[in-house]
Amino acid sequence: MLLNIDNLRVTFDTPDGEVNAVNGVSFQLDQRETLAIVGESGSGKSQTAFAMMGLLARNGKASGQVNFDGTDLLKLSPRQLNKVRSDQIGMIFQDPMTSLNPYIRISDQMAEVLTLHKGMSKKDALRDSIRMLDAVKIPDAANRIRSYPHEFSGGMRQRIMIAMSLLCRPRLLIADEPTTALDVTVQAQIMQLLADIRDDFGTAIILITHDLGVVAGFCDRTLVLYGGQIMEDGPTDPTFADPTHPYTRGLLRAVPRLDRTDDELLTIAGEPPDMSRLPQGCPFSARCDYVRNVCPNIPPELRTFDGNRRRACHVSREEVTA
Ligand SMILES: Nc1ncnc2c1ncn2[C@@H]1O[C@H](COP(=O)(O)OP(=O)(O)OP(=O)(O)O)[C@@H](O)[C@H]1O
Ligand SMILES: [Mg+2]
Repeated sequence: MLLNIDNLRVTFDTPDGEVNAVNGVSFQLDQRETLAIVGESGSGKSQTAFAMMGLLARNGKASGQVNFDGTDLLKLSPRQLNKVRSDQIGMIFQDPMTSLNPYIRISDQMAEVLTLHKGMSKKDALRDSIRMLDAVKIPDAANRIRSYPHEFSGGMRQRIMIAMSLLCRPRLLIADEPTTALDVTVQAQIMQLLADIRDDFGTAIILITHDLGVVAGFCDRTLVLYGGQIMEDGPTDPTFADPTHPYTRGLLRAVPRLDRTDDELLTIAGEPPDMSRLPQGCPFSARCDYVRNVCPNIPPELRTFDGNRRRACHVSREEVTA
């Protein structure tokens, strides 16, 4: 097992009180496995990833365990964590411009990763960087590597970010909305690229997205977050074919499908919860069609079913899927 997250919690101190962004999330990831973390805006997807990487904002605090290859990342010093991050875990964000320095040539930004973290000579670092740009299909990489970030299109910049995150051959790649800012054709190309990388390098991937259309066909497992808690998770195919949590069903109803021409596209009524005033029980209870008296008061346990699926819901599976 590559990653074992146990009871991860993230809280932020704010002038209005404590924000409970991630509330007891536990999951595992094997080598080469691809996991999707899905959920509406504010459900705690990014903060789960940031907490794992020690990248929370200053007012944030993480607790629980993040065992990566047997080491609890939450217990490492900033220096040790920095080493794990640069050597073994790559991260791609939504907007490559926030991660690329506009004033520095791509060649220097990429080479620096290798000279700094791998102690390579500038020449070797440049050669490896060009190879990686080739791998992510930047045309004429040997010349274009001398360009500045703004000389590339958005899709190309995202490819460069991916190349950069792969330079140290990470064992885990975390991609947070890597294609959200791109148009549909480029989105598909980037997803194909990530799939190729997984197959070629054997990298485990955590894909954070609210686009469920992207998840099917790419991710082995899907984990559904709401109010910083896992509502349901399991292998992607059965989870999508037979969602057992009212929230998962709501999310899937909101995905446009080619095989459906009626106007069944429904968004989930109501607002996402205020993370500083979550109910004691199920965070989704305020918006749930199946709500019972027990729901807002007592937290539903995350229970395993069908061997490798889990759901946290007071209402029986039969009733929800009927
Ligand atoms: N520095 C901070 N201080 C206070 N609250 C924060 C801070 N950073 C994030 N939050 C809150 O934590 C919650 C979870 O945020 P997170 O970024 O994980 O959402 P997300 O699921 O990634 O959403 P999106 O799809 O919009 O990216 C949100 O309610 C957010 O407002
Ligand atoms: Mg996010």
